[in-house]
Amino acid sequence: MADAQLGRFWQNRGLDGIAREKQLLIDFLCSSAGGPLFYTGRNMLVTHKGMGITESDWAIFINHLQAALQEFELPEQEYAEVLAFIGSTKTDVVG
Ligand code: HEM
Repeated sequence: MADAQLGRFWQNRGLDGIAREKQLLIDFLCSSAGGPLFYTGRNMLVTHKGMGITESDWAIFINHLQAALQEFELPEQEYAEVLAFIGSTKTDVVG
């Protein structure tokens, strides 16, 4: 949200909506990792369609993700698994 290029996606959004989106992101990741948890949000294509997320946005987002995973010192295997899973959502999110 604080990124100069990506910040536009979260401009003028209410705090409660942002909190809800954060919780849904957590739920989506937990559910996708096997849960047990029932994800009640929308799928990634429906959610992001029409937002105009570009290749360049995606590259910046991945850089932030890598920095976050490095900060939490994830073991190599989990680091690779998270990146691979997030990467698998790219075709639904970009465009
Ligand atoms: C550059 C990358 C991305 C941007 C700019 C972005 C932006 C957004 C924005 C603005 C929303 C709020 C939509 C709304 O309130 O209608 C949203 C929702 C969401 N995003 Fe992303 N997103 C990105 C990547 C991802 C990825 C990689 C994932 C999952 C691995 C993800 C998971 C979600 C989820 C679970 C929601 C909530 C779904 C729902 O409201 O039902 N996003 N995203």
